[in-house]
Amino acid sequence: MDFAIPLNPNAPSPMYRQIYEGLRRKILAGKLAPGQRVPSTRTLSQQLGVSRNTVAQSYAQLLSEGYFQAIVGSGTFVCRQIPDDLSTTSQPKSTPKQLHRSLSIYGESLIDFDPFLPPDPTAPISFRYGRPALDEFPLSIWRQLLSRHCRDNSDILDYNPDLLGHRPLREAIADYLARSRQVNCNPDQIVIVSGSQQAIDLAARILINRGDAVAIEDPGYLGARQAFVAQGAELCPISVDESGIVVEELSKLAPTPIKLLYVTPSHQFPTGAVMSLSRRLELLTWAQSTGAFMIEDDYDSEYRYGEHPIPALKELDKNNAVLYMGTFSKVLFPALRIGYLVLPPNLVQVFCHAKWLVDRQSPLLEQYVLADFIAEGHLERHIRRMRHLYDQRRQVLVKALLYHFDKHINIMGENAGMHLMIQLNLSLNDAEVISKAYQAGIGLTSAAPYYIQSSRQGQFIIGYAELNDTQIKQGVYQLAQFLIG
Ligand SMILES: Cc1ncc(COP(=O)(O)O)c(C=O)c1O
Repeated sequence: MDFAIPLNPNAPSPMYRQIYEGLRRKILAGKLAPGQRVPSTRTLSQQLGVSRNTVAQSYAQLLSEGYFQAIVGSGTFVCRQIPDDLSTTSQPKSTPKQLHRSLSIYGESLIDFDPFLPPDPTAPISFRYGRPALDEFPLSIWRQLLSRHCRDNSDILDYNPDLLGHRPLREAIADYLARSRQVNCNPDQIVIVSGSQQAIDLAARILINRGDAVAIEDPGYLGARQAFVAQGAELCPISVDESGIVVEELSKLAPTPIKLLYVTPSHQFPTGAVMSLSRRLELLTWAQSTGAFMIEDDYDSEYRYGEHPIPALKELDKNNAVLYMGTFSKVLFPALRIGYLVLPPNLVQVFCHAKWLVDRQSPLLEQYVLADFIAEGHLERHIRRMRHLYDQRRQVLVKALLYHFDKHINIMGENAGMHLMIQLNLSLNDAEVISKAYQAGIGLTSAAPYYIQSSRQGQFIIGYAELNDTQIKQGVYQLAQFLIG
């Protein structure tokens, strides 16, 4: 029987509550049958990687509300009579009205979905990841460009007849990619999307049928994993080492036909590993031999520190296997909701049609503004400035972590991007670390939910781009005080 419950140590609701909700949902959906024995608190706590006390608290709640029943000497059971007869399985199913109310398979798959939540934003110092230094964004230039287009341009109010997205923006992106990533593409291979998340979702809809095997990095980006699962994919988690995804493990999956592989080669999410050139070449050989498509999510490749850039997979791809995606969420600001897909030519039309069905187009005014912002050199100027700033912040962070945590810490993936990962060598589980950090006024993200195959403890994703030097030093100091005294 299925007692797996997705837990998110970073969610605002406490762990016991998440376990309580998970079990209650399973009972109401009939996934746990009336009268069924439930595991002991010890067994479930081991299974879920939480303390026994946490599970005991959720059991106590379920007992008090009548979902569970304890029989002395025998154990704990799902109650035969569910409170208020709420169980969906016990309701008469035959009336046409109720049949109409059932969800699609896609809808069902989203019920237990846990939208990815950053650490508590109310923490005075939050090491949340993926957030650029928004206070450094050149808002006055953006404002000028906005008013220029509002004044001069009535097209911004209408549907864009160009299904691929605003042509000058696609041209500006093609030039930018050629300059910065050596990715040479035709603007007509580019589709403008509402952020990389939409690019991933469209790829999942277009490429995956229910039951198709999709290989993903483990640990990996939750937004991709969830989009593939919602589409009915069978996930094949592949380990990651310091050179990125382990291609040897991928090759061992044969004869399972892998339809799609999702990778973050420039800065593996979340470990920060940069995929070596030899791995990239191995990966392309693997894709050629299997016929799999690959999504290259280049979400923050602009930020590299002291290393020569390694060519994008897309640049090395001679067989049109790579769907390359980028976003302006990290280099500009996430609320912009503009990203892009560079597609093999034969996929362009179908992606355009899918995008049209989902939301017609991304906001046109912002596309006009962004096209000018890139063409007039503001984008690259801003990136250069931010690269310098983030590099400084990164150095302050690494120094502070090593100084205060000394032998209790290993730092990983610090040579690129806007976050790094730490392994804390302490005798505390992640929920305890997060709760102690919170008492210290620090927001932290556990890496555990990003793993599929193992419940790794002690790893945390540390975003630093939006914090100034004082906040970083203060945050690390306070964290160390609360965690190691
Ligand atoms: C690895 C990765 N890919 C994609 C995204 C999504 O970015 P967007 O805001 O463009 O949807 C994120 C956001 O944090 C990310 O970390």
